[in-house]
Amino acid sequence: MRVYLDHNATSPLRDEVVEAMLRVLRGIHGNPSSAHEEGRAARAAVDRARASVASLIGIESGDVLFTGGATEANNTALLGMLGARAGAAGHLVSSTVEHPSVEAPLASLERAGWRVTRVGVDSDGLLDAAQIEAAIEAETALVSILWANNETGVLQPIERIAAVVRARGIPFHVDATQAVGKIPIDLRKIPVDLLSLSAHKFNGPKGVGCLIARGDLVFESVLRGGPQERGRRGGTENVAAIVGLGVACEIAERELPERMRDYAALRDRLWDGIRAKVPRVRRNGSADSVLPNTLNVEFDGAAGELLLQALDVEGIAVSSGAACHSGSIEPSKVLIAMGRSPEQARGSLRFSIGHGNDAEQIDYALSVLPDRVESARQAVGA
Ligand SMILES: Cc1ncc(COP(=O)(O)O)c(C=O)c1O
Repeated sequence: MRVYLDHNATSPLRDEVVEAMLRVLRGIHGNPSSAHEEGRAARAAVDRARASVASLIGIESGDVLFTGGATEANNTALLGMLGARAGAAGHLVSSTVEHPSVEAPLASLERAGWRVTRVGVDSDGLLDAAQIEAAIEAETALVSILWANNETGVLQPIERIAAVVRARGIPFHVDATQAVGKIPIDLRKIPVDLLSLSAHKFNGPKGVGCLIARGDLVFESVLRGGPQERGRRGGTENVAAIVGLGVACEIAERELPERMRDYAALRDRLWDGIRAKVPRVRRNGSADSVLPNTLNVEFDGAAGELLLQALDVEGIAVSSGAACHSGSIEPSKVLIAMGRSPEQARGSLRFSIGHGNDAEQIDYALSVLPDRVESARQAVGA
């Protein structure tokens, strides 16, 4: 049996998504910028997907800018926004628990003379809106905060942070890559100016996402070329992938309440079972403000990488730290930022639930875990 518990790394395509993409790949070959019938068919497919994204998160279709995923969206939000102010290096506010696709552009901007204040989190992984407010300076050009943490699933108080940032009149970027499709998001109620999302985190294809850029924000394109996406991103659109993203949004909108209920029930079944069967475990991150599908557990004294590999042999796919860091045994920066020691961080695993998981699979994982944890503890002599 294979039990895939790594949906925060990436998630399987839903059949409806595959079918919609195949219809495009087989039958719609026009360039969306072309004025003829073939072009208009491609344009219509892209526009429908734009409307589906807009409907899921409560924005205007015109604010959706398609990208090649959330890494590009985050880079565009930071570098594109700031590129528009070339020569005027200023100040930015972000956090100590951002994804590398935000952290790396921040580091580039620092090398170019920008100052960045990274607000820290508490031991539950939570930011405090008052501390974000205190970090804002007269020169602050942008605040960028992750909505849901990819490793712990912790949900930041985005509504409160958005209110303080808006009160200071500063653009607010949110990396919502792990939140979209997993929790309700209604941007009619939250003043967010820029928001990144990625299709493959919620059963859409890899390599496609969006930067939501509201209103008339001035920013320079990072991909310079043709006039696509209202001049904000050059390059012929990946029509099939965009259509796949749109259908993933439609499914998410339809299924969100039951998805949240079902994933949370499986996640809680897993955590209750782990607590009952495995001694010396601790949950990393807030248990109240967290994605319904994510559980991050510290197995005290265990070698997380060994445990991950042993579970893989047993048919169970999980992650230690962010998937993007796997292969390296550097302790998770997110857990270190929450005050964990490198050993505690190294002994932690992320379980993320999604489409296709059921109670039988969770019970199988629970039947395997205690012995494997014991071996991973013995391996480091704990
Ligand atoms: C929070 C977060 N932001 C950004 C990304 C990057 O997304 P993509 O794989 O679409 O480039 C990820 C993916 O791991 C993520 O979890």
